[in-house]
Amino acid sequence: IEMRDTPRQPAAAAPMLDLVVRPRRNRKSEWARRLVRENVLTTDDLIWPMFVIDGDNKRAPVGSMPGVERLSVDQVVRAAERAMKLDIPCIALFPFTEPSLRDENGTEATNADNLVCKAVRALKQEFPDLGVLCDVALDPFTSHGHDGLIRDGKILNDETVEVLVQQSLVQAQAGCDIIAPSDMMDGRIGAIRQALDANGFLDVQIMAYAAKYASAFYGPFRDAIGSAKALTGDKRTYQMDSANTDEALREVELDLAEGADMVMVKPGMPYLDIVRRVKETFAVPTFAYQVSGEYAMIAAAAANGWIDGERAMMESLLGFKRAGADGVLTYFAPAAAEKLKKHG
Ligand code: PBG
Repeated sequence: IEMRDTPRQPAAAAPMLDLVVRPRRNRKSEWARRLVRENVLTTDDLIWPMFVIDGDNKRAPVGSMPGVERLSVDQVVRAAERAMKLDIPCIALFPFTEPSLRDENGTEATNADNLVCKAVRALKQEFPDLGVLCDVALDPFTSHGHDGLIRDGKILNDETVEVLVQQSLVQAQAGCDIIAPSDMMDGRIGAIRQALDANGFLDVQIMAYAAKYASAFYGPFRDAIGSAKALTGDKRTYQMDSANTDEALREVELDLAEGADMVMVKPGMPYLDIVRRVKETFAVPTFAYQVSGEYAMIAAAAANGWIDGERAMMESLLGFKRAGADGVLTYFAPAAAEKLKKHG
């Protein structure tokens, strides 16, 4: 039931409780709530992640992410047009690589004509003013689904970084604005920054997935890029242990020292404490990734009629702002932006 906001009549009798402070006074009506509101979400806070597939005029639903589709490059360009109209500043690209193009070493990652590079070129040609972020990691390209090279059952660090540097360079060459390494290898930010600078890409930013946890919430993403079935074992030797906080600060400190322009915490909702501590400790642009599993939970509960999906979406996104995030990567970006445009 909608309660009427402002009582018109003073209470007839003397109050039953002798209270000097009544916090409800500041909540008595919508204008009063607006007046004391501390945090706001705007379209400027949104980065829209998209999945790219090969082909033309193709859209393929992601089963575990209701409402999210993989898009062929032409459809990514259409979606970008929507992003522009909605004032979303930036989109992020993730490729679904054909199984025949995947191998042990993720060779396709450094192909200057791979799906991501094609999409970036098409986007930059059509909408040069829209920010484009590219993920850097090998998992969309490896037959084993890991983010790095493997030898004797171990994920190699320094050898992987060499490949990630090449991957970053082909993406920058294609026109990518923000390089976002999500692999969690040691030293990759510094190596990538150095290579970008040496090749004249001084303006290409780096958003480091600085504090990225080994999480169950990435499940639907791995479906979307087709690495779920391929993945052998887990990613715990490179992604962080969910139990740790200090370690996140150390990772962020290192990435900043190596030249990261922005840092990210991932996943989002279960790690808002990390967002808060990172922001308070370093006072740098700090982002959170509301990952696929977080999206799926809200979308699935909403589809069952168990929660109000739109309100849960907005509440979850505001939570990131309250925690101190400067922006959020979220699959809700277009829906949230539509709502913000309508209601301000
Ligand atoms: C690749 C990568 C992952 C995500 C973003 N980049 C998956 C993983 O690390 O396994 C997850 C994003 C999501 O779940 O929405 N390294």
